[in-house]
Amino acid sequence: MKSTIQIHDKHFEVFIEKTIIEHRIIELASKINQDYQGKRPLFLAILNGSFMFAAELMKSVNLACEITFLRVSSYQATQSSGKVHKILGLLENIENRDVIVVEDIVDTGLTMVEIKQQLLAQNPASLSIITLFQKPEALKQPIDIQYIGFEIENKFVLGYGLDYDGLGRNLSDLYVLCE
Ligand code: IMP
Repeated sequence: MKSTIQIHDKHFEVFIEKTIIEHRIIELASKINQDYQGKRPLFLAILNGSFMFAAELMKSVNLACEITFLRVSSYQATQSSGKVHKILGLLENIENRDVIVVEDIVDTGLTMVEIKQQLLAQNPASLSIITLFQKPEALKQPIDIQYIGFEIENKFVLGYGLDYDGLGRNLSDLYVLCE
């Protein structure tokens, strides 16, 4: 029987073990190493969730590259378009840069669609997205994601950077909510 943990009021069980996650991240990094040979990509890691993934990924990226960390504000109301996420903390000029956005998980895809639009408005030379996890069944807007670690079921997960109400980000395995 799998051991379970309790976070706040909910129980979670191990879903993907750390060694499997780390092995997959090495594969993703070697794909990026091939695809960006001779280039100097700028990784934009989205906080908080991607901190563990970004750190592990960068250990196996052997290109000359830069990394910076961004936040995305929670929904902000605007008069015209309803609600948008805003990118916070991007100090670098990304014009003509090869940008790689690093995300923990793409769920509905709405956050990533907005981030992508805002970054493309700054005219990068190229823009690709890497996410450790994706829930294909939850997608509400089509979005091209160039590098996907694991496609998972549409269930709530935590660990490996992902939280449940602030807790669980430090867990090195990925956990899923018990049924
Ligand atoms: P989206 O806009 O629905 O794609 O949401 C993306 C963000 O929601 C991710 O960056 C996570 O912070 C959060 N999120 C989505 N699914 C989960 C989950 O299963 N566990 C923890 N956080 C999640």
